[in-house]
Amino acid sequence: MLTIAVSKGRIFEDCMPLLEEAGIFPIDDPKTSRKLILDTTRSDVQLIIIRATDVPTFVEYGAADLGIAGKDVLLEHGAESLYEPLDLKIACCRLMTATPKDLFEIPKRVRVATKYVKTAQQYFASRGIQAEIIKLYGSMELAPLVGLADCIVDLVDTGNTLKANGLEPRDLIMNISSRLVVNKAAMKMKHAEIQALIEQFKLTLAKRA
Ligand code: ATP
Ligand code: PRP
Repeated sequence: MLTIAVSKGRIFEDCMPLLEEAGIFPIDDPKTSRKLILDTTRSDVQLIIIRATDVPTFVEYGAADLGIAGKDVLLEHGAESLYEPLDLKIACCRLMTATPKDLFEIPKRVRVATKYVKTAQQYFASRGIQAEIIKLYGSMELAPLVGLADCIVDLVDTGNTLKANGLEPRDLIMNISSRLVVNKAAMKMKHAEIQALIEQFKLTLAKRA
């Protein structure tokens, strides 16, 4: 049995066509079902439905053999403990700094609100900027508006959320997409099954390119 960890919402929507090409259709609709383990039309594959940020943890500990997670989440988790064999090129966006429109220069000692604490720390340190990082779990765009921070580090896609809140994108930290991650022991123990799935995903991605 192969267990694949995915998160509800955008990643699930985007990875469904890939899973379907591999003959994996969940039997219950994850949008309506409260089940956290979903059987699929392939008797050798089950899906577990977890928070996006928890995917690397489940895969690292072998609670799932494979997982699909954003590069943003993997950077923050530290991906050394996982194999990352494939860029699935889904849920694409950019990890960026953003500030209020009227802030022309980022101060030398900057307060940064983000849920990407580790990544932000590394980014500002690499640029020689002294940053005080304030950990938030969401709605980062609010922080500069209420004086909590000068700057945010967050994901940007259309830019609509920034715009709606009077912020603008500044520096690109990294282009983000979702990756297939694999537990290291499972890669050895279930090599044939996992490799077959990777090859199938590769075929589907090649057709899209
Ligand atoms: P959690 O539920 O664990 O807090 P989350 O709310 O960030 O996570 P999603 O919003 O579904 O979960 O995002 C999952 C992944 O999708 C992110 O890790 C990122 O890689 C990608 N993503 C997030 N926002 C966007 C966006 N606006 N456009 C495209 N991809 C995005
Ligand atoms: C993400 C991200 C930004 C927004 C960017 O939030 O945290 O707020 O998308 O997308 P845009 O540039 O197209 O506006 P999401 O929609 O996932 O909401 P959440 O963080 O509250 O889950």
